[in-house]
Amino acid sequence: MAIERTLSIIKPDAVAKNIIGEIYTRFEKAGLKIVAAKMMHLSQEKAEGFYAEHKERPFFKDLVSFMTSGPVIVQVLEGENAVLTHRDLMGATNPAEAAAGTIRADFAQSIDENAVHGSDSVESAAREVSYFFSDDEVCARTR
Ligand code: PPS
Repeated sequence: MAIERTLSIIKPDAVAKNIIGEIYTRFEKAGLKIVAAKMMHLSQEKAEGFYAEHKERPFFKDLVSFMTSGPVIVQVLEGENAVLTHRDLMGATNPAEAAAGTIRADFAQSIDENAVHGSDSVESAAREVSYFFSDDEVCARTR
């Protein structure tokens, strides 16, 4: 199976709940390696740019406001089938529809504050990783 990279964001609601370690443990138990990570408080411009594809959606303003409401942790996860593995761990966008035992089912309040973001394809992952990290900030993990 292919080794992939995917972009993960632990959103402001999950950082505020102090469950960063719990979420990292789930990544690691699923065989995903953290190969880059940073905590940051997104500016409005950075959040708008990240979600530019949703600019015309009715929830865009609220989404940007939420994502800039407090710090986030952004990381690059690497592993076999990383994009899908990570999306399975997260669960559906709407926590009310997320499978039991997923991060969103366990920790998210609503579709507006849903704890985590994950790239939806290998192509999106490449774009999203480079939106937050330069090449030299992503580490090779040889063991
Ligand atoms: S959709 O509806 O299938 O296109 O949604 P998706 O592409 O999975 O993600 C949309 C992102 O916007 C966030 N968000 C909402 N989506 C739908 N409805 C409402 N009300 C809403 N509010 C916020 C949603 O969490 C997705 O963000 P990310 O960070 O990609 O998970």
